[in-house]
Amino acid sequence: MRMRAAVLERFAEPLVVQDVELADPGPKEVLVRLVACGICHTDMYTASGVDPSGYAPTVLGHEGAGVVERCGADVSLLGEGDHVVTLFSPQCGECVHCLSALTNLCLAIREQQNLGYLPDGTTRLARGGEPLRHFMGTSTFAEYTVMPEIALARIDREAPLDRACLFACGLSTGLGAAMKTAQVRAGSTCVVFGAGMVGLGAVAGCRLQGAERIVCVDLAPERLELARGQGATDVLQGGPDVVQRILEMTGGFGADYTFEATGNVAVMRQAVEAARMGWGLCTVCGVAGRGETLDVVPRLLITGRRVCGSSFGGLKGREDVPALVDHYLAGDIDVDPFISHRLRLDEVNRGFELMEAQDGIRSVIEL
Ligand code: CU
Ligand code: ZN
Repeated sequence: MRMRAAVLERFAEPLVVQDVELADPGPKEVLVRLVACGICHTDMYTASGVDPSGYAPTVLGHEGAGVVERCGADVSLLGEGDHVVTLFSPQCGECVHCLSALTNLCLAIREQQNLGYLPDGTTRLARGGEPLRHFMGTSTFAEYTVMPEIALARIDREAPLDRACLFACGLSTGLGAAMKTAQVRAGSTCVVFGAGMVGLGAVAGCRLQGAERIVCVDLAPERLELARGQGATDVLQGGPDVVQRILEMTGGFGADYTFEATGNVAVMRQAVEAARMGWGLCTVCGVAGRGETLDVVPRLLITGRRVCGSSFGGLKGREDVPALVDHYLAGDIDVDPFISHRLRLDEVNRGFELMEAQDGIRSVIEL
């Protein structure tokens, strides 16, 4: 079939929205009619050409939600008409990592996905007969996508898809960091560094876990206001003295849980230093630049602080994403304030401009 899609032709150039070809789903693959897609930093990062693992030409986008249009042979997990959220982090349910409760890093299709191919090493996307690669296994800046069934989470049909798409990446990453990776305990004190989509999700996750005090740190007053709306009890302007101020707020000890959601290694260091002696857990969610390292004084670790990382919030996508969407439907998560702009696919480059200008939290493309 032919469809409209936003293609990254060359790095550091605007995406080109154009007609491309999409082949039928193969075995264990599904054709999804996309309804909405968020624009995430990772899309812009790849488009910029800074990401060393990036490739072009490719159809960008990875925060998609839509409806299953057709199933390929041997599909058993989904049926036509199912509402789905796309998963750049799949869950095969069979690999050694999927069988372990300790990680969500499914091994099933990693290698081909990282290269821009579907699991059989080919693409379903093409233009003028030339193959186009699939970005993050999702390629959701498009009217349709073909994806492996293990990379789609079936969600409640009641959930509006223009909100549900945020659960495909940033929002779930933040929620999961607090609820699954750190497993914040009720009554604890939490500090979240960064009030973008991931940080705001972490604030909401801490609140859902029953944290007593949630401090959010950011540079922008508007974002800190949004953090209050998600349950932050205190907000702090970021800066070199922020660790000192957190220590002062916590009787000199630091927080039970800290979360880093900026990707800035200097902020990661602050997040480690703001964690409490004895048991403070620092969860790193942000993606640092290639070659950057995190500086930690080892004494901080000997005296009981712990540091861990969280990819996609530690969530096993097919199980945990639908459960988060159910939380949203139950009224526990206020998603609307995250949607700052609604765009058409033709306006995708405008979405990148808005992100660069730090205007709002998320732009959502309505397809
Ligand atoms: Cu993302
Ligand atoms: Zn797996």
